[in-house]
Amino acid sequence: MRAVSANLLALLFLCTCACVFYVWSRLESRLERYKRGLQLPRSFHVGPSPDISAKTFRALLAVPVAQRLHLGGRLDVRNVTGVRDQIGSLGSRDYHMNVDNKGSVQREVPAKFGSLVEGIFWSEWLEAQLPASFSEEHARAWRERARGHRIVRLEPGCGRISNQLATFSDGAKACVRYGINADQVQGETLTYYLANLLGITNLPPLILAQLNVDSEQWASVRRRIGGLQWSERAVVSLTEWVANLTGVVTPAPLRQESKGLRPLQGELGNKTTAELLELMQWTDLIILDYLSANFDRLVSNLFSLQWDSRVMERETNNLLRTPRGDLVFIDNEAGLVHGYRVLDMWEKYHSTVLGSVSVFRKRTAQRVIELHRRRDTRTRLLELYRDSEPLSPELGFLSYEHADVLQNRIDRLYKHILHCKEKYHQL
Ligand SMILES: Nc1ncnc2c1ncn2[C@@H]1O[C@H](COP(=O)(O)OP(=O)(O)OP(=O)(O)O)[C@@H](O)[C@H]1O
Ligand SMILES: *[C@@H]1O[C@H](CO)[C@@H](O)[C@H](O)[C@H]1NC(C)=O
Ligand SMILES: *[C@@H]1O[C@H](CO)[C@@H](O)[C@H](O)[C@H]1NC(C)=O
Ligand SMILES: *[C@@H]1O[C@H](CO)[C@@H](O)[C@H](O)[C@H]1NC(C)=O
Ligand SMILES: [Mg+2]
Repeated sequence: MRAVSANLLALLFLCTCACVFYVWSRLESRLERYKRGLQLPRSFHVGPSPDISAKTFRALLAVPVAQRLHLGGRLDVRNVTGVRDQIGSLGSRDYHMNVDNKGSVQREVPAKFGSLVEGIFWSEWLEAQLPASFSEEHARAWRERARGHRIVRLEPGCGRISNQLATFSDGAKACVRYGINADQVQGETLTYYLANLLGITNLPPLILAQLNVDSEQWASVRRRIGGLQWSERAVVSLTEWVANLTGVVTPAPLRQESKGLRPLQGELGNKTTAELLELMQWTDLIILDYLSANFDRLVSNLFSLQWDSRVMERETNNLLRTPRGDLVFIDNEAGLVHGYRVLDMWEKYHSTVLGSVSVFRKRTAQRVIELHRRRDTRTRLLELYRDSEPLSPELGFLSYEHADVLQNRIDRLYKHILHCKEKYHQL
């Protein structure tokens, strides 16, 4: 009997050793992968890669104690599948330490840095300052309204000639996008639903419509459609038109000369609430553009730096701002379909831009974690799209190949968040 127990103990000991070694080597290989993944050609040397080096990593760990206290934020990754996520459990110490502060966060004034970011997440206080840009209710109401009214006018006002400003019989307006090919309309539409899935509310509500000059919906603009040479039966997208939008210049922490957007006192503590709210929205933008491989905003600017050194000082493509300060992500037609086709060319820039962000919205990160763990991004996106858009069978959905690309990007984004967590949370 005793011999059996001794053998069992020995076995247990060996298993423990093996586990420790396994976890340790996984961590090492992850760090290694990050180093490799974020290496850039010299001419595009942007913020993130120096941070990845072991030297900087150690330097960060040497932050003075006073600053560490400010940085130790509460982490509240929602329990989505019944198992606490790795990201959540890593922060358990701080979680317990700060959990009592939850109710006492000051709602009006960001008294100190701790109330701006909590670990690697924008704080609840900051989140509370910015209601959804286009709420779910708003989007549902707009879509119903748009489907129920005739289009009485089509005119320029939404960019290039293939995009037209439409006026409905009730006076509401929309941008109609006629895709040169189906990829563009699919990209626009599926990116909108991907944003929905992630809880990102910066995209104007969207519906699809099928051109048919004999239908009531289009009859009033029959002649105009003829002039535009839009082909019958084409599926077009209509997005809510928003008044008084202005251009947006990329904020300093996201420019190539910066060290990136990091949850550090010295870098965020000095910003106004308006600046922080905008940065918070940019972090969602970067996540969405990374996942959808949309190069037609920040990434194309990075690319253009080769010959246009001042491109970052100009307004960012396909991004606008409301007078209230909400960012509006328009023109997502490069996302998911076209973006995936040309990934070879753009991937290094996508990785660079993602690598420059180490602060996230909690809700967005939670959804990413959930999609990573369940590995069901394709199903969830397809269901949402089918349930919300009657014309989805006409337009079609992502190929299996592209759905895999999307799931892989979710997984890589998850690892990036985990990496930031390891790097900054336990400071
Ligand atoms: N939903 C919207 N609400 C208000 N204005 C819009 C909207 N969508 C587009 N616009 C206007 O149309 C312009 C061009 O939009 P968009 O990027 O969608 O078209 P585009 O043909 O790609 O143009 P560009 O080549 O300039 O990017 C925007 O800068 C904005 O002024
Ligand atoms: C997570 O959720 C499951 C069921 O929803 C529950 O049984 C479990 O206790 C929860 N775990 C945590 C850590 O909250
Ligand atoms: C847009 O700006 C004009 C002029 O300043 C103003 O009259 C109008 O109310 C604004 N509309 C919205 C929706 O903000
Ligand atoms: C805040 O920024 C201003 C100018 O942008 C600078 O002069 C000041 O030193 C900064 N303060 C801190 C604490 O970084
Ligand atoms: Mg555009």
